[in-house]
Amino acid sequence: MKQSDETWWRHGVFYQIYPRSFQDTNADGVGDIAGIINRLPYLEALGVDAIGLSPIFPSPMADFGYDIADYTGVDPLFGTMEDFDALAGAAHAAGLKVILDLVPNHTSDQHPWFVESRSSRDNPKRDWYIWREPGADGGPPNNWLSEFGGGAWEYDATTRQYYYHAFLAQQPDLNWRNPEVRRAIYDIMRFWLRKGVDGFRVDVIWHLIKDAEFRDNPTNPNFLEGRRPHQKILPLYTTDQPEVHDVIAEMRRVIDEFGSRVLIGEIYLPLERLVAYYGKDLSGAHLPFNFVLLSAPWHARSIEKVIADYESLLPVGAWPNWVLGNHDRPRVASRVGRDQTRVAAMLLLTLRGTPTLYYGDEIGMHQVAIAPEQVRDPFEKNVPGVGVGRDGCRTPMQWDATTHAGFSTATPWLPLAGDFLHENVVNHEADARSILNLYKALIRLRKKLPQLVSGSYVPIAAQGDVLLYRRESEGAAVVIALNLGAEPVSIVSDAAGLSGEILLSTFLDREGEKIEGTLDLRGNEGAIISG
Ligand code: NOJ
Repeated sequence: MKQSDETWWRHGVFYQIYPRSFQDTNADGVGDIAGIINRLPYLEALGVDAIGLSPIFPSPMADFGYDIADYTGVDPLFGTMEDFDALAGAAHAAGLKVILDLVPNHTSDQHPWFVESRSSRDNPKRDWYIWREPGADGGPPNNWLSEFGGGAWEYDATTRQYYYHAFLAQQPDLNWRNPEVRRAIYDIMRFWLRKGVDGFRVDVIWHLIKDAEFRDNPTNPNFLEGRRPHQKILPLYTTDQPEVHDVIAEMRRVIDEFGSRVLIGEIYLPLERLVAYYGKDLSGAHLPFNFVLLSAPWHARSIEKVIADYESLLPVGAWPNWVLGNHDRPRVASRVGRDQTRVAAMLLLTLRGTPTLYYGDEIGMHQVAIAPEQVRDPFEKNVPGVGVGRDGCRTPMQWDATTHAGFSTATPWLPLAGDFLHENVVNHEADARSILNLYKALIRLRKKLPQLVSGSYVPIAAQGDVLLYRRESEGAAVVIALNLGAEPVSIVSDAAGLSGEILLSTFLDREGEKIEGTLDLRGNEGAIISG
């Protein structure tokens, strides 16, 4: 990819690394920056264009780095600033972009800003956070709940006020209505952008602004017992406030001070709300993360509908994107089932829009069962037993069949998947028909055929378990046929343009096969056909 290409983020394939679990080099059981450098050749061979790192900044690790105590440093657990500079240099030399995680909604309670803020009511940093008087009954100021269980207000006995935390009490929310806070975070962005970072994934960007009047949230009439407890109330006044778009437009202007950088927003909202995050006249995030595939039922008609909805809701000129996995949601292999993981890969890499892969999904890593005594995730600790735990999708990368899967020479911070002796990079590289080789072939094909990147998405009517669409640009087209079921299907369609040859099957064994009007797919098979 050309470094000078202004819109590289439209063409590229993104790969999210959870640094704690990628590669350890100093035998402490936790991955580090030097480990990522060592594995750059692997990422180059995979063919991705950008790596996104979950937080690497100094942190007490209450939420594994999403509680930042210093925005412009590197946590010693991960290495040093020199290591980071070396990573950025080596990645760029290899043609890979580097995206960092910006966590502006909250800091750690150990951040000097918060230490100051809580020290007295008249401290100059008091208003950098969200402090409120107790409610009339002496309890919390209102009914807002923490996403990680319990109330969202923590009482501070020294200054006799409550502070707001959307997540852990150790993650106090910054007050984004305060211009000083905004300036401070924008300067932090500039610090990293000057270092050559290619953009940010902005954590919980839709949370930044809360209701100015701190009104109670309404109760959720559809709440079901056993669900995440914070869903008992609807976040009407805590997230997705209209003023958030002004903040994001400011962030975007900071990004635009530098050439060719990207602003990505982490947003869990229904599609019709999500698309607002492109901003008025596209002044917002370049890519508001589209997480719809993380929770859509895995049925051809449901997937067809979410694609159609998304395509029709996108503002003019907005560039789409698709995410198949991340460090907060169960692994795709466990969501869709092992047999469908290849179909999911083909879907991700043939839809219109920037695809984001999550480390390990390319070798089919599944959600690892975590015994109660092994739980590390604070969310699971606070809200046990309802399936919110995120450790199972954060287990160490399975590189080879040696002790600890080549991830570390020490016991890893989270247990390895039981199947790592077979399911590992070395084995997958040796097996010409592995899912890893499918991912590589898909990425190669995407680079070879412009219609897979910039072509339009044209749905083709299909029934049952079949999902069918065409990608076409300037007369060149390919048809993608995916069987989301376990039974073989025979697709007969003149309209689909099913004549040509198979460019790629998810089983990697039919390339070059001629098709004339009818396409037979095995159970759980997907194919790309030349148009
Ligand atoms: C979203 C992050 O992806 C998640 O891992 C984290 O716990 C919350 N934001 C709080 O920062």
